[in-house]
Amino acid sequence: MPLRVITTIAEFRRAREDARAAGTLGFVPTMGYLHAGHISLVDRARAENAVVAASIFVNPAQFAPNEDFGAYPRDPERDVALLEAAGCDLVFHPSPEEMYPPPEQDVYVTPGDIAARLEGAARPLFFRGVATVVLKLLNIVQPDRFYFGQKDGQQAAVIRRMAHDLNVPGALVVCPTVREPDGLAMASRNVYLSAEERRAAPVVHRALTAAQQLCHSGEARADRLREAMRDTLQAEPLVASIDYVSVADALTLREIEGAAADGAMASTAVLIGRTRLLDNVILTRPEAGGE
Ligand code: PAJ
Repeated sequence: MPLRVITTIAEFRRAREDARAAGTLGFVPTMGYLHAGHISLVDRARAENAVVAASIFVNPAQFAPNEDFGAYPRDPERDVALLEAAGCDLVFHPSPEEMYPPPEQDVYVTPGDIAARLEGAARPLFFRGVATVVLKLLNIVQPDRFYFGQKDGQQAAVIRRMAHDLNVPGALVVCPTVREPDGLAMASRNVYLSAEERRAAPVVHRALTAAQQLCHSGEARADRLREAMRDTLQAEPLVASIDYVSVADALTLREIEGAAADGAMASTAVLIGRTRLLDNVILTRPEAGGE
């Protein structure tokens, strides 16, 4: 199927109906400015479905007034070329007016406790904006499978919970984080880093690796893991501030008080210069046997 770029909901619905006979549809929602992390989701969707759709939409509802909605990097032509090369069939690229026509949106998906911590602590309406646009996109695209990155671990947990609590049809597939060779998690906002900041940025992954190594050496107490992460981050002078370091249950995102079990999520968000970097790893405790 040649790639089709579709900008209206009505036309996308028609294309989706036309594609139904071909088999399952896999869907990758994005905000564009694509990199190898996004493309890994498209590759996975391609391997598992007859038809692959992606969306490119910088969602105003998930940006606070003081955030970078206007400045968020955009290059839809390049994105479409990358999606075509990856074998994507349908690209949904609506305008803000198409997604949020008047009257003003009044019904939102509001995640509860799971969205109140970590990323949600400093950005109270962020996950409301994410969950609302994702449910809108799922209602338009009606995928059999939808693909999210572990890179945004809390986002994946919120979408998992939304799908469970609201009986969303289709299956969520969470894919591993794609990293630069030095460990930095790929992210569209990495372009904001200066050359010097870019050299310092792998400290985020080093901090998470320090926690993972402690687990492997038998020290799984969550407060020790958080301490090791904080120590690593604080040793890097270009880390301007640490928003949080966390060792939490991967499903509820509640902070762990005692020992971290196999599968817990270590995560952190820091400012390097003025760029906010967010990353996580799922901790493994081989010797604990998944306890
Ligand atoms: P965006 O930041 O463009 O990310 C789109 C998808 O790509 C998300 O599922 C994200 O977790 C995944 N992703 C980003 N970097 C990745 C990496 N290095 N490795 C693996 N996956 C990666 O997340 C959003 O857009 C938006 O919030 C969205 C879900 C589209 C709703 O607006």
